[in-house]
Amino acid sequence: MTFDVERLRRETPGVAHRVHLNNAGAALMPAPVLEAMVGYLQREAQIGGYEAAFESAARLERVYDSVARLVGASRDEIALTENATVAWQMAFYSLAFRKGDRILTARAEYAANHVAFLQVAKRTGAVIEVVPDDASGALDPQALEAMIDERVRLIAVTWVPTNGGLVNPAAEIGRIAKAHGIRYLLDACQAVGQMPIDVEALNCDMLTATGRKFLRGPRGTGFLYMKRELLLQLEPPMIDHFGAPWVAPDRYELRPDARRFETWENNYAARLGLGVAVDYALAIGVDEIERQCRAKAAALRAALAAIDGVTIHDLGADPAAIVSFTLERHDALAVNARLFAAGINVSHSKPESTLLDALARGLPTVLRASPHCYNDASDIDALVQAIRAMG
Ligand SMILES: Cc1ncc(COP(=O)(O)O)c(C=O)c1O
Repeated sequence: MTFDVERLRRETPGVAHRVHLNNAGAALMPAPVLEAMVGYLQREAQIGGYEAAFESAARLERVYDSVARLVGASRDEIALTENATVAWQMAFYSLAFRKGDRILTARAEYAANHVAFLQVAKRTGAVIEVVPDDASGALDPQALEAMIDERVRLIAVTWVPTNGGLVNPAAEIGRIAKAHGIRYLLDACQAVGQMPIDVEALNCDMLTATGRKFLRGPRGTGFLYMKRELLLQLEPPMIDHFGAPWVAPDRYELRPDARRFETWENNYAARLGLGVAVDYALAIGVDEIERQCRAKAAALRAALAAIDGVTIHDLGADPAAIVSFTLERHDALAVNARLFAAGINVSHSKPESTLLDALARGLPTVLRASPHCYNDASDIDALVQAIRAMG
């Protein structure tokens, strides 16, 4: 069966207005996502917020099933959050660290995660160690294995970093973590919606993701997967009476599922939108989405690389759909703004988003173009022509 990009474009209102190559920032939502959210907001306005939630209770519950299906988990292992960072913080800050405990991470770890490591290191005396890369620039599993000892308390890595197409060997890392009984926290923020996720095959204990990027959900959505055995052992760093019902004057009881990491109040329109976005991706088939994303990114990367003065910065043997590049004669922020004025959306990644990687490679702010399966050859061409014209 041929891939029907035209249908996807018809279902994506934004493509009529922009060449959108910023799916690593926030993708264009498909019409069903938008319709579900607008329809829900209308019900909130018409009958009241609590009443709309009551009316749509079954649909809202099904969001957990959709997310669980997307990552190969059970619904009780999913918490819905307002972004990926909150999901990650809930997991990370639930873990106990002592002086000398080691946290192993990757060089291109996302800034939000690394500053949290630094805070916990400052508070507890735990140490942060970066696993060396292999020749392709990906985290080296052999180097990881060689670093393991009884003081390693956590392996926490980003699967696809924010600043380029690198894909870290998430499943291989999981195999090592499992073999040594070490907890494994995987940041799948840029992977979700772009490539298939199976938490069993990845052997991860905790996985965090956002809704608005390659998954094409609304802003202000994210989720946490936590393995059942682990979540039952962990106390969230902060609780409210939803995650921890107040059962007696001097006692609360944590919920027996991942919702112990949630709070009572939520943006239900956004949640519904997230659920529809997940169902939409599953209906296309995430394998097919990955093929399309990679093929489009590879075409874009090759065309940009052929332009005089353009340098591609993506690492890894088989990069995903984030194309990072700089222009020798132009500042990245200025290029980003000029493209925006020309109707082309890309974004940029500053050194401080992935500081260790930027320092190690001497990276300035890089431009980031991130195609999705709904982008067509004319989108890729528009960006390539615009960059070529800048010289
Ligand atoms: C790799 C990675 N992790 C985490 C995040 C944070 O996600 P959110 O903004 O949903 O909290 C981002 C956002 O760009 C990211 O690229």
